[in-house]
Amino acid sequence: MENLDLLTRYGLFDAKVPRYTSYPPANHFQTDVGLQAQRGWLAAVPDGSEISVYIHIPFCRRLCWFCACRTQGTSTLDPVAGYITQLVKEIGTVAAALPGGVRMSRLHLGGGTPTILSPHLMKRLLAAVFGEFTPAADFEFSVEIDPTDAAPDLLAVLSDHGLNRASIGVQDFDPVVQGAIGRQQSFAQTRDVVDWLRDAGVPSLNLDLLYGLPHQTAVTFGETITRVLSLEPDRLAIYGYAHVPWMSKRQVMIRAADLPDPLMRLSLSEQARTRFEEMGFQSIGIDHFARPDDSLATADAAGVLRRNFQGYTDDASPTLIGFGASAISRFAQGYVQNAVATSAYHGRIEDTGFAGSKGFALTPRDRLIATMIEDLMCRFRIDLQRLHASFPDRWSQIENYIAGLMKRFPDVLERRCNVVTLRPEARMLVRIIAHDIDGFRADLVAHSVAV
Ligand SMILES: C[S@@+](CC[C@H](N)C(=O)[O-])C[C@H]1O[C@@H](n2cnc3c(N)ncnc32)[C@H](O)[C@@H]1O
Ligand code: SF4
Repeated sequence: MENLDLLTRYGLFDAKVPRYTSYPPANHFQTDVGLQAQRGWLAAVPDGSEISVYIHIPFCRRLCWFCACRTQGTSTLDPVAGYITQLVKEIGTVAAALPGGVRMSRLHLGGGTPTILSPHLMKRLLAAVFGEFTPAADFEFSVEIDPTDAAPDLLAVLSDHGLNRASIGVQDFDPVVQGAIGRQQSFAQTRDVVDWLRDAGVPSLNLDLLYGLPHQTAVTFGETITRVLSLEPDRLAIYGYAHVPWMSKRQVMIRAADLPDPLMRLSLSEQARTRFEEMGFQSIGIDHFARPDDSLATADAAGVLRRNFQGYTDDASPTLIGFGASAISRFAQGYVQNAVATSAYHGRIEDTGFAGSKGFALTPRDRLIATMIEDLMCRFRIDLQRLHASFPDRWSQIENYIAGLMKRFPDVLERRCNVVTLRPEARMLVRIIAHDIDGFRADLVAHSVAV
């Protein structure tokens, strides 16, 4: 690879940097922002505005060793049923704290495994959501699906409630890789779920893949990519496997010695990029691909792509309300995260009906940095004209940031006509550049390598 020297020089293979799904990243949230802020910020959401709703289901029937998501294993639905009862209470309390005229533009069920719910539990949950929140005209409903735990009668409930997008976990189809990451999932199982969703008329299917897994080689990964493309997805997300066993204990089952080295990781990610682009997918940000007519691609082309906790989105709502254990809400004023452990979440909902336990109140400086980082992560550039218009009293601060960046990244950044652009061949450095303007960068605890 021609630009290897450049990428190495700027630390691509050593840097441990956040994925910047929020600024500041959630490990900087503080307990002095909690219930009081949550109540105040909910009440201050403009009446008549659109909100997005995220619901976290932190349960799985099996626990895959690679997984860094907040979830717990269960062999029965008893704890899930108790959790849905608490969720229904939380939805009622939070909805009552919002102005009456808000409309729900998006509903996303994530996890964990939302499809672990029985049809009855899913109907109860969705009745509460649609009972409290009126969908907006352009409403979209998406769900994360583990194809090994997605019964047709449950999928039917989702489709009856207007499911628009399914995000299906694949990771890798190779049996050796699957054995090493504790996730058995056949191609046939995955194809059956894809076929079922298409037959039910779900218009957009996203598949999640991982590179950097143990025993992945160019040959095996090439085969996985071929099989994935044969499913004709509308979108693809390809994430670099984050090996963080000190945070996600089950990852100790994965031998570090079996992981591909950083150069191999880079080559696997480039292999996927090349194949997806050859098949007509448009590259979106650092890790997504979409067919040109997909709404993510059209948002990208229009320069209105956003970054949120699920990655990239075309959702324009400034307010995201998170329900369930560990879910994060985003308000114009800042972030609030619910109690992380399900037991603590239950306790808080029993006490007050709210579960906010920590968060972050954004200062004007944080907002400025957040805007620059989101622009970089979504568009690989910083639009100074837009920044100056949004932060008219911070002109000299903006110029100082940009001067510092141009000095530290002279051969990868270009400034022309009030736009600072990251050269296409250096786009992989975007998280490192974002980290350079991150006001909290001293703390590296929760981060993963940049490639
Ligand atoms: C929250 S999980 C839910 C997926 C669903 N339960 C399933 O099994 O298909 C969503 C995605 O996060 C990604 N993910 C999980 N652990 C990861 C890790 N350690 N590094 C990078 N991505 C990871 C995987 O691609 C996964 O499909
Ligand atoms: S990948 Fe999905 S099924 Fe596996 S542990 Fe993570 S959330 Fe659960």
